[in-house]
Amino acid sequence: MSELAAAVRCSTEAETLALGERIGTRVQPGDLILLSGHLGAGKTVLVRGIAAGMGIDPTLVRSPTFVLHHVYRADPRVLHHLDLYRLGPSADIRLLDIDEMLESGGVVVVEWGEHAGREQDASASIRIDIDDDGSRVISPPSGASLRLAGAWTDHAPT
Ligand SMILES: Nc1ncnc2c1ncn2[C@@H]1O[C@H](COP(=O)(O)OP(=O)(O)O)[C@@H](O)[C@H]1O
Ligand SMILES: [Mg+2]
Repeated sequence: MSELAAAVRCSTEAETLALGERIGTRVQPGDLILLSGHLGAGKTVLVRGIAAGMGIDPTLVRSPTFVLHHVYRADPRVLHHLDLYRLGPSADIRLLDIDEMLESGGVVVVEWGEHAGREQDASASIRIDIDDDGSRVISPPSGASLRLAGAWTDHAPT
């Protein structure tokens, strides 16, 4: 029987990194993960954790706001990091060939993922909210498999 995971409250950046790392250890080639939340919510921090969980040097992960797309590799793993902030909701997302990234075995994580119009086939959609006390409340992933949702229920280091 599966239990719906609860949101995880991250009071510090380190806790958000740790959740990202738990996600990163669970991703598989072809996963599409959409992140939403205001500027400064911690989306890029979460991606840094995902990279670490995939064995990628997290210090390489920068906000791709101006570049739209960064690629990080830790052979054979490939992480595509997209940020659609500047494209806006009516963006022609086809310019970024997400399907090709997924089909070639990459993991694709998209900041401002709601602009991608891909909720239907995403492996997980994750929302980050900033609470009154500044802590980040990170939603359990909607549309996610138990494999990814486990990052929310299993707080033990993996
Ligand atoms: N609990 C927390 N989780 C993540 N980031 C936090 C937290 N508390 C403070 N911060 C700070 O908030 C900022 C988040 O930045 P960033 O990840 O670039 O946001 P986004 O990509 O959503 O615009 C960083 O400066 C980080 O240090
Ligand atoms: Mg960012």
